[in-house]
Amino acid sequence: MKFSSITSALALVASVAAIPQKRCASNSTVPYTTIAGVKVIDTPLVRKARELMEANFEPFLIRHVYRTWLYGSATINNNATLAAQIDVEALAVACLLHDVGWDTRDNSPFTSNDKRFEVDAAIYTANFLRENGVKGEWTPSRIQNVWHGIALHGTSNIGLYSEEINVAFIVESINMDYPGPHPKFPVEDYDNIVAKYPLDGLGEGTNRAFTHIAATKPEATYDTFLEPWGVAFVEGYNPVGHRLFDRGNPNVTSPPPTKRNVHLY
Ligand SMILES: *[C@@H]1O[C@H](CO)[C@@H](O)[C@H](O)[C@H]1NC(C)=O
Ligand SMILES: *[C@@H]1O[C@H](CO)[C@@H](O)[C@H](O)[C@H]1NC(C)=O
Ligand SMILES: *[C@@H]1O[C@H](CO)[C@@H](O)[C@H](O)[C@H]1NC(C)=O
Repeated sequence: MKFSSITSALALVASVAAIPQKRCASNSTVPYTTIAGVKVIDTPLVRKARELMEANFEPFLIRHVYRTWLYGSATINNNATLAAQIDVEALAVACLLHDVGWDTRDNSPFTSNDKRFEVDAAIYTANFLRENGVKGEWTPSRIQNVWHGIALHGTSNIGLYSEEINVAFIVESINMDYPGPHPKFPVEDYDNIVAKYPLDGLGEGTNRAFTHIAATKPEATYDTFLEPWGVAFVEGYNPVGHRLFDRGNPNVTSPPPTKRNVHLY
């Protein structure tokens, strides 16, 4: 081996060793448990996030967030590259708490009166990590990855392209929750996950949550993917005049949205 290739081999070893492995699936000292046949991280912090979700939310939403965590974990468990890179504790907490902004209760501790639901969840979860994480472990960059992964999960056409793989993978895991086996992990895992956490109620629950948000803070929904829920289901909701299009084209009349099924929710 020439000297130059020895030094580059050493540089490679050094750069691999420099990858933060503390909470990665490839670190065998990280505590694990098995849920629905999938190996997942099992720290006090992750248990706390699970308890928080289970104590405060409807079963359909609890099942949804568990599925997203398990899909992501099953993907990592079948891909050594991801196992060396992904912070599985950050992924767990992000998946488990990504929809706390769906809380429909008055005076919810999870939601604001003015922000998108993804931002509410990102802010809540970042504070949860600062308060409950082991001191010194939750560096600003770990917290920021969780914040961005949650904040961008509803705009996957941005989030999936994050240059930070921990952000992109949180977005990817959350967006895996649609029916049918997923190509990135074995079909047995998919079958086990949906057997334990069935998809029942996700469509209706989504309608209820998004309709509630469009009704109670419409300004946070104009020009976002929640807008059609307001148009379809909320009496008096009209995004015309509130959109970027309207500001840029004050004298152009774009077709007013059509209302459908306004009395359903
Ligand atoms: C593996 O995780 C443990 C517990 O978090 C940590 O103390 C240890 O430093 C990690 N090992 C490596 C190689 O990062
Ligand atoms: C593992 O994941 C990486 C990053 O997403 C991807 O590029 C690669 O193709 C995956 N490998 C396998 C064997 O699926
Ligand atoms: C819109 O119409 C008003 C009244 O005709 C006019 O004064 C204004 O310049 C128009 N604005 C644009 C951006 O075309």
